[in-house]
Amino acid sequence: MLRGKNIIIGICGGIAAYKTPLLVRLLKKRGANVRVAITEGGVRFVSELALATVAEEPVYRSLFPMANTEGTDYTGHISLGEWADALIIAPATANTLAKLAIGLCDDMLTACFITLRPGKPVLIFPAMDGQMFLSPSVQRNIQTLFTQGCRMISPESGELASGQVGCGRMPEPESILKYLEDELCSSTRHSPLYGKSVVVTAGPTREKIDGVRFISNYSSGKMGFAIARTAAKRGAIVTLITGPVYLETPFGVDRLDIESATEMQAAAQPFFKNCNIFIAAAAVSDYRPVAPYEGKMKKDDDQIELTLKKNPDILAEFGMQKTSAQLAVGFALETQSGLENARKKLASKNLDLIAFNFFDRKTSGFDVNTNILTLIESNGKTTELPQLSKDEAAGKLLDAIEKLLPENQH
Ligand SMILES: Cc1cc2nc3c(=O)[nH]c(=O)nc-3n(C[C@H](O)[C@H](O)[C@H](O)COP(=O)(O)O)c2cc1C
Repeated sequence: MLRGKNIIIGICGGIAAYKTPLLVRLLKKRGANVRVAITEGGVRFVSELALATVAEEPVYRSLFPMANTEGTDYTGHISLGEWADALIIAPATANTLAKLAIGLCDDMLTACFITLRPGKPVLIFPAMDGQMFLSPSVQRNIQTLFTQGCRMISPESGELASGQVGCGRMPEPESILKYLEDELCSSTRHSPLYGKSVVVTAGPTREKIDGVRFISNYSSGKMGFAIARTAAKRGAIVTLITGPVYLETPFGVDRLDIESATEMQAAAQPFFKNCNIFIAAAAVSDYRPVAPYEGKMKKDDDQIELTLKKNPDILAEFGMQKTSAQLAVGFALETQSGLENARKKLASKNLDLIAFNFFDRKTSGFDVNTNILTLIESNGKTTELPQLSKDEAAGKLLDAIEKLLPENQH
């Protein structure tokens, strides 16, 4: 995908700039033509000589060419941006984000951002101290650039080059490469899910009986993870809230791990107001022990009684407060009167779509790799899907959701 593509890497004055020669090298190895535009701040952190050597091209920095020198390109401030098939800015400093957001153009990097041809992908990787990242001005600039169509990739959490631990780390060059490939995949940019905020719940919950035992179910999380992975591939901004599962986080997905239903509710509620789509694929335990025993219960008694209390219905809570611009999607795994119960759930929780899960534990339902879904929309439209891999089923489900997005309803 990258062979022959013209890629500009914009490097700002952040500590993570030290990773960029490797990024250039990886892109070159994939057959891309790479040019580097670096800021005055950037050269404090990474050597232009190293970058020029791996890029096999001079590095671009100053907007102003030498006058009266033979062979000088006096229109470099325009032609570099026009040359590019994609622009990656990594690391993007708070300073440069502000410049980009208001259209300042005082170095080669900012100039090529402005002169990039319409529709060409711009991937921006802000990297800075966590407090800086969360500051209202940085967040406002990120929002402005996102609204302009830039793909904004949040910094990762972990050990920072400064020695501190927290949010602010630039993703590794291999990861940046994957984001670029993902972006260049044309389907991403044309999906109606592009840029939409999608929250997916997945997996089981665990409800404590005592310090070492819990009530749970067989959910593996595979369906929810497949939905999160597929939505992220289509360019959605995906948050995956998951109970305890043994699955890798899908690429480009923000994952929140929880254990109980009440923890899942607490993790989900902050997204209720602003998410575009809420997809509840988790198998949330219906009940929890009223008073979990502190420590480990002894087996002295022949019989014990466990009193259970109803758990919150997270999806119903979202369904009841969502606006007409938001979609609520649920799953119904039923063993009796399946479709009828699924339709009742759809109506009582004010959902836009429900996926009825046929359950036999061999071809469909918990902990298997395939699923047989029937999609029921609030207008009654019912679509029976054949046995599909969970990734394929996720694709069909998202196809149906895309058609329900307010802007696609006529
Ligand atoms: C040691 C050091 C590390 C820095 N790291 C970062 C950083 O990671 N992110 C950031 O936004 N600014 C960082 N800064 C501040 C920027 O270098 C400064 O705002 C500079 O003006 C950025 O210029 P530029 O955006 O043109 O590259 C750092 C400064 C110093 C002295």
